[in-house]
Amino acid sequence: MSYLSNDQIEHHFHDVVIIGAGGGGLRCALQLADANHRVAVVSKVLPTRSHTVAAQGGMNAALGNVNSDHWHWHMYDTVKGSDYLGDQDAIEYMCRAAPRLVRELEHQGVPFSRLEDGTIYQRPFGGQSREFGEGGQASRTCAAADRTGHAILHTMYQQNLRTGTHFYDEFFALDLIMDKDGCQGVMAWDIAEGRYHLFQAKAVILATGGAGRVFQMTTNAHICTGDGGALVLDASLPVEDMEFFQFHPTGIADVGPLISEAVRGEGGYLLNAEGERFMERYAPTAKDLASRDVVSRAIALEVKAGRGCGPNKDHALLKVDHLGKDVIMERLPNIHELALRFADVDCTKEPIPVMPTAHYTMGGVPTNRFGEVVYAGEKGKGMAGEKEKVMPSLYAIGEAACTSVHGANRLGGNSLLEIIVFGRACGDQVIKHLEDKNYHAKLDPDCWKDGVERVERWLSDDSNESIRISKIRDEMQKVMQDHFSVYRTEEVMAEGVVLLEKTLESLSSGSIEDKNRIFNTELVEALELENLMALARVTASGALARSESRGAHARDDYPERDDEQWMKHTLASIKDGKVELDYKPVRTIPMSVESFPPKKRVY
Ligand code: FUM
Repeated sequence: MSYLSNDQIEHHFHDVVIIGAGGGGLRCALQLADANHRVAVVSKVLPTRSHTVAAQGGMNAALGNVNSDHWHWHMYDTVKGSDYLGDQDAIEYMCRAAPRLVRELEHQGVPFSRLEDGTIYQRPFGGQSREFGEGGQASRTCAAADRTGHAILHTMYQQNLRTGTHFYDEFFALDLIMDKDGCQGVMAWDIAEGRYHLFQAKAVILATGGAGRVFQMTTNAHICTGDGGALVLDASLPVEDMEFFQFHPTGIADVGPLISEAVRGEGGYLLNAEGERFMERYAPTAKDLASRDVVSRAIALEVKAGRGCGPNKDHALLKVDHLGKDVIMERLPNIHELALRFADVDCTKEPIPVMPTAHYTMGGVPTNRFGEVVYAGEKGKGMAGEKEKVMPSLYAIGEAACTSVHGANRLGGNSLLEIIVFGRACGDQVIKHLEDKNYHAKLDPDCWKDGVERVERWLSDDSNESIRISKIRDEMQKVMQDHFSVYRTEEVMAEGVVLLEKTLESLSSGSIEDKNRIFNTELVEALELENLMALARVTASGALARSESRGAHARDDYPERDDEQWMKHTLASIKDGKVELDYKPVRTIPMSVESFPPKKRVY
């Protein structure tokens, strides 16, 4: 590394660096920039290409525009949906804040669809009830047709342009700069120019989104590679509850893109090969609007029983044409287009072929409800074992984080809500932090080295014999798909863990063909694969260890939830190259209301 000195690294100073330009990162940036802080958003893609743009169906808030609703019912549904693994203080905070923050978005310019009386359009979504209150189905999801994420992301971006947030687009975060006092910044690679940048900050916020690309079949964009979680693992900190991966019931069969739950919210329903509305058997009350884990398992069971559709009997059909062309084009224009493009189906005339598809990372970087990264579990080893501690100056929000509002299964519509609520809350917390930490720390002179080494390892390797990273990525995704899918068993997962370790060996000797520094997308893919691999390993180990079924983690060999043993969060870290597991309790005490104790989930 002798040819690379510190002078060749561009050094930036900001109050706050946010890694990731999705809705969470941008909402947080807005809070900080409006408070006159110097904020940098470092993103590997242009902000409007962040994955928030793909969120379709909407954002939950108990506005009660369609029928009466209350945040407390929303809280109940979210705790129940989480299969009682969600932290109830954070859930209460989120559900209480929701109505106010939706109205704030409206005032910031989000073009929500409207009801006849001019109020924000709300549709029913899965797992929404008034069970704890008046009974019946709630209509809680605030929507801008079926392009709600798109509308929110663009509005947040424009608001940040107004406030003068500094954007560093197409920069890849390589390494967190950590010292004994916490996080001091991040090393990044400018993809377009092929240069290193050191961002020094008084606070660093991870808003990097999910890791859906660990699976072969996913609704997630290619950019969803769990970069924040991997940075944290590399800093010897744990990630939480990674074994809980949501499979959305209605990805387009064989290709993956999302067909929004909004379709079922508007009255669409699922059919098996016999033309039966099979959800009536699995969820007699909520039917097609049961929570996602329930619907995904039902489709998997129908396929297993030989009632799958198509020549391979491997999917279900989502019927929507009965809603009529006018309703479809007004409320679901995006899914009409997606079905045409990806399945060659005009959904105003025929049903859409769908199958459960990896969609959402419930786990992530552990945080409290202020976005502060926390660590420490039960075991009393290393960083774990003491009372939960805050890692100074490091924060995480959105899908990258595990604030644990989703527990073992997220409700549709709570993801856009989470990014706005905790983006804002984290911004407020950082504003307080900056009152004390009003200086940039003196850095270790070698702090840039690990980041630089990550890139140079790929660019300097001249072996043409080794395996290409695209092949290694395919192998890893196949292992995850085949061994850690909707239904899991000890034997299949144990085999998966072994296969993943082999894939990891291939990665350590893998290579890239393109050695250029300028806009080297193969290099970016290699860095992303390193990140994915770390997250796949902790996901697999956490899943194998958890001998119960809860939410999205459904085991054939342990079909019941086991609250006695397992009502706890998994903390997984990588120490000396090996995955280590630890656990910490669920926060069952809300902020101000009574706790919802665990009971059997029926829909
Ligand atoms: O189905 C959907 O529109 C997805 C929404 C969500 O994941 O929250």
